Amino acid sequence: MARKKIALIGSGMIGGTLAHLAAKAEMGDVVLFDIAEGMPQGKALDLSQCGPIEGFDAKITGTNDYADIAGADVVIVTAGVPRKPGMSRDDLLGINLKVMKAVGEGIKNNAPDAFVICITNPLDAMVWALREFSGLPHNKVVGMAGVLDSARFATFLAWEFDTSVKDVNAFVLGGHGDTMVPVLSYSTINGIPVKDMAKIKGVDEARLDEIVDRTRKGGGEIVGLLGNGSAYYAPATSAIAMAKAYLGDQKRVLPCAAYLEGKYDVDGLYVGVPAVIGADGIEGVIEIDLSDEEKNNLQVSVDAVKELLEACKGLDESLK
Ligand code: APR
Repeated sequence: MARKKIALIGSGMIGGTLAHLAAKAEMGDVVLFDIAEGMPQGKALDLSQCGPIEGFDAKITGTNDYADIAGADVVIVTAGVPRKPGMSRDDLLGINLKVMKAVGEGIKNNAPDAFVICITNPLDAMVWALREFSGLPHNKVVGMAGVLDSARFATFLAWEFDTSVKDVNAFVLGGHGDTMVPVLSYSTINGIPVKDMAKIKGVDEARLDEIVDRTRKGGGEIVGLLGNGSAYYAPATSAIAMAKAYLGDQKRVLPCAAYLEGKYDVDGLYVGVPAVIGADGIEGVIEIDLSDEEKNNLQVSVDAVKELLEACKGLDESLK
């Protein structure tokens, strides 16, 4: 059986990290695409030379030609610009929308059967626009945010409780912005509800609120520290988990920006929800019970996503 093919659109910080992780895990052959000439080819050469040391068999190539992504099984999109300190994800909208148009057409014409994972920000609007521009079915286009946001939440909870991260199951809903909704009621330490664990460990509610707030602003904290660019190790690792779930038909339940048609009272938007990822892409969305407060918080997040879509429609006639 031929190897799987993984195409990475955007070969910057996240794209390069994705290529390394995918090759190292022998997920398939990797194509790095970018508009910058020479850069994807150079990264591909550099990464290929990790093969003899790490002992992986994966062909890694770099290109500036969409024809080279033909037949890709998975396409992961990071093309666009990242944030600078002081910027919100939403400030990237104008530039990255144009990028999504070019990328959507490239995918439509060359890899229409792929499972497409979008990482470019502002995520919930960009994944929607990418789906519109590519015309692919909604179950084959998904946004990566929830896996990352949950991982941030889990990291902070594990630090607070002094437990292994392996035992933390942290739950985040909503858009990938400061309005995201970390849901404490569904977060556990190996089955022990976080609120119970907090009592056991003497952690008060104010401290839990601080952890929730740090999670919401987790990306911005890293942007501020890096000074030039945004997070890339954990975003790439998150998208790889989603790609593996698809390629291995794992039916994992992962939080991701999935297209909603009525669930959570949302219709026609991409919003972060728990979804099942298997060989058919997004095979289902799981609707959980939420408290009134959680519902209200989710609504604020959904409204923020709606506003971004309206802004997209204002910038590009074809999206109306
Ligand atoms: N087509 C293909 N690649 C493009 C295009 C385009 N039209 N426009 C820009 N790029 C490329 C850039 O040349 C660059 O190599 O996208 C790459 C982006 O890489 P970085 O600037 O290193 O950004 P990165 O940290 O990888 O983040 C990418 O993901 O998390 C989001 O907010 C982040 O939107 C940003 C994206």
